[in-house]
Amino acid sequence: MFNKLKKIAAKVAIKYIKNNNIIGIGSGTTISHFIDLLSTEKHNIKGIISASENSTKKLKKYNFNILNINKIKKIGIYFDSADEINHKMQMIKGGGAALTNEKIISSLSEIFICIVDESKYVKYLGIHPVPIEIIPLAKNFIIKKLSYIGAIAKLRINTVTEHGNLILDVYNLNLDNPVKIEKYINNIPGIVTVGLFTKRCADIIIIGNKNYTVSVINKKK
Ligand code: 5RP
Repeated sequence: MFNKLKKIAAKVAIKYIKNNNIIGIGSGTTISHFIDLLSTEKHNIKGIISASENSTKKLKKYNFNILNINKIKKIGIYFDSADEINHKMQMIKGGGAALTNEKIISSLSEIFICIVDESKYVKYLGIHPVPIEIIPLAKNFIIKKLSYIGAIAKLRINTVTEHGNLILDVYNLNLDNPVKIEKYINNIPGIVTVGLFTKRCADIIIIGNKNYTVSVINKKK
């Protein structure tokens, strides 16, 4: 069922592509559905910045123009999903281990559209563990540092990121103040990226609901 909900939400997201813009594309199953629908808007897409090798591979199959992030100044809209998103548009991301690229690309984008099924739209973040990408030699040090705030960090097995790093999935974090936790984790040496997106939140959430309707929520100005 969730796949169907991701698809109907992705279909609505496609309508936001306009004016022959450069767009950013995240990664994961929701985005894979989104890419399948993207061909209808090819004439409106100048080029794409992709967040993962998997997304790039699929986009190339459809003959999209993949751009180098170092050669462009800004991106119009970034389309991605999340593992969880709350009412403040803050997110947990990184289920697919592409969080570093996703954070960079979303930070360069004028608008972030997050496409989810209803199960991911939560009141409080923290049902899923928070993924963090880390430099391999800092693993034990970081696990210890996180234990000081009561968190339990588990190494994601058989996972090496596109940057050659490791992923820790962090459980038992107190996320009453996710902004503070994002900053705290960012300050630990050896952390590359934390999968909490509280600084660069989404601007628009598109939700595929269980009754097969789609809700669109815009950030309050
Ligand atoms: C990848 C992500 C994904 O957006 C997140 O894991 C959701 O994935 P899916 O669309 O497969 O449910 O953050 O790093």
